[in-house]
Amino acid sequence: MSKYRIKSISSNFTVRSLINNKSRYSLEDFEKKVPQVVNRYGGKGKSFEDYREPIYYIATETGCTVFADLFGGAGTIALLAASLIDNNNSQIFDSIIFNDLDVGLYCIFSSLQDEDDTEDMIDNILKMEYSRYFFNKTRNIMKALNTLKLNAKKPIETDDEALLEIIELIKEKKLTHKELIDKLENNNQLKAYIAACEYIRSVTSFNGAGETYRDHSNKYYEKDRTRLIIRGCENFRKAVPFIRQADFKVYSVSALDILKQAAIEKEQGKNSNILYFLDPPYYHPTRGRNAKKIYDFELSNEDHRIMIDSLKKIDNWILCGYDIDDADNPYKELESVPGVERIDLGEKELYSRIIETEHRNNEIIWVKKTIS
Ligand SMILES: C[S@@+](CC[C@H](N)C(=O)[O-])C[C@H]1O[C@@H](n2cnc3c(N)ncnc32)[C@H](O)[C@@H]1O
Repeated sequence: MSKYRIKSISSNFTVRSLINNKSRYSLEDFEKKVPQVVNRYGGKGKSFEDYREPIYYIATETGCTVFADLFGGAGTIALLAASLIDNNNSQIFDSIIFNDLDVGLYCIFSSLQDEDDTEDMIDNILKMEYSRYFFNKTRNIMKALNTLKLNAKKPIETDDEALLEIIELIKEKKLTHKELIDKLENNNQLKAYIAACEYIRSVTSFNGAGETYRDHSNKYYEKDRTRLIIRGCENFRKAVPFIRQADFKVYSVSALDILKQAAIEKEQGKNSNILYFLDPPYYHPTRGRNAKKIYDFELSNEDHRIMIDSLKKIDNWILCGYDIDDADNPYKELESVPGVERIDLGEKELYSRIIETEHRNNEIIWVKKTIS
């Protein structure tokens, strides 16, 4: 398997100058190396280049050996971090944490940790097909698992006994997100089935958002739509070695809780070797009218403030977002925190079409690093 080889970086460089000087890899190169395993709205697959060097730079400067992608999504950035090596061919990170509250994404990355579970997930996928029927079926299952609510008008179709038991608990309002994840943790077969549902839901949906069916029938024959599904399965097999070599851990807990805990530990004087990467659902005022509710798990404006308050207290993180000139925007406060650097990545027109708003949006990353 080939990996990125990154030039050594002088410690006099700031992250900003690095970005201005970077040597770009083409998207084609990236796709050949780090596979994109699931199509997800807001996925960084097409703009990964902007993150590669800040991640490398902060890790090597600070000595962070654990990379934690707290809003993991399609996992592009976690897989990118898993692929980074230095000039001596050593991996930059000993361990990668992928975290997302989305139950389907948790199941996909958890299944990818094991070769048999990956094959099980692919078998399940190949039993389904590209059709409105399977889109509705898998969307209803994923909605129920993510919201822990049942929609009477959209019944769940399954004969999987373990899943039926979970649906029954949801009906009785007796299941929390943590209890659901604990159940899945002990049932690899069910995890692989749910992973397949999530994959089919996103492949057959418009923009990978999982909400509306993308028909494709005027563009592709049925055979080609089947090929769309199979092409993605090939990427699962390509992802396994990246995941295996990097001690990849998969969690599904609230990123806000992880950050609060990190802030407490920092206050207690504990050292951390974790580089946090945060690509949250974007702050609502920076989104367009059509993009107010995209994910099954969103952050309220108050959640953004809580996240920012924790970030002010901890070191070694990269936060992604869009700029907005709004007096209440908690992201603005970061810029007066000592050690925080703001980097303007420019307009992301091509990759964020839904984010078109009256105020043109520049994508920004805020970075904080502490060199011991
Ligand atoms: C912008 S997407 C991340 C995209 C990702 N960087 C990629 O390249 O695909 C935001 C993700 O945050 C997840 N999410 C929302 N609230 C969360 C929370 N409190 N904790 C963890 N994940 C959350 C959503 O399920 C969604 O997958």
